[in-house]
Amino acid sequence: MELDRAISSRKTIRKFKKQNVPNEYLYEIIQSAMLAPSAKNRQPWRFYILDDKQKEDITNMMYQWGDEYKHIHTSIKGSANQMQTANKVIMIFTPNYHFYKNKKTYYKKPDYLSLGAAIEHMNLKCFDLGLGCTWICDTLYVADEINEYLKLDDLEQVSTLIIGYPEEIPERRERFSMDKLLLNDIPKNKNTKDY
Ligand SMILES: Cc1cc2nc3c(=O)[nH]c(=O)nc-3n(C[C@H](O)[C@H](O)[C@H](O)COP(=O)(O)O)c2cc1C
Repeated sequence: MELDRAISSRKTIRKFKKQNVPNEYLYEIIQSAMLAPSAKNRQPWRFYILDDKQKEDITNMMYQWGDEYKHIHTSIKGSANQMQTANKVIMIFTPNYHFYKNKKTYYKKPDYLSLGAAIEHMNLKCFDLGLGCTWICDTLYVADEINEYLKLDDLEQVSTLIIGYPEEIPERRERFSMDKLLLNDIPKNKNTKDY
């Protein structure tokens, strides 16, 4: 598939069919992440594929998180609802930093950027496979609980990708105009494409 089409047509999918996503696809999705660029080729990504019970337990943690923070709670609940209907869930982790021991503070930001690149590869790969996904950070609210539950030491959760066959493809969410984004002028010619 043309990269251009994948970039311009990919959207966050929030409603999924019940249909099973084959495990081979999970390997392909993770392999696409492995091929992402990373600062100093550090490849700071680790993946955990949840089984159904783990998915249910983790969504329950999200439902139960901080009722008193109404606005945030609505967002977490929405993400938990989506996660429940997704057929597959991949959690993305990165090795923990030991700032003073290793003096590697410099790598923190580059590593996060590398992780973003890897997760976007996964996003586009899902689209290429005819799947839909949501890149979720709301699982971070219960990151400590999740680590304890999955018995993961020395790893920091950075995101979760929920995957399934799309039940509904939404309209494209609005984007800022180029005028707002460009801090100076670039020359435009008749072949310049507007998305
Ligand atoms: C780092 C990151 C975190 C996100 N976290 C969530 C989330 O927790 N829950 C959710 O429903 N969507 C989440 N999204 C999806 C965004 O809401 C979505 O990408 C954005 O609204 C633009 O829509 P589009 O992906 O269809 O273009 C996240 C996206 C990114 C890149």
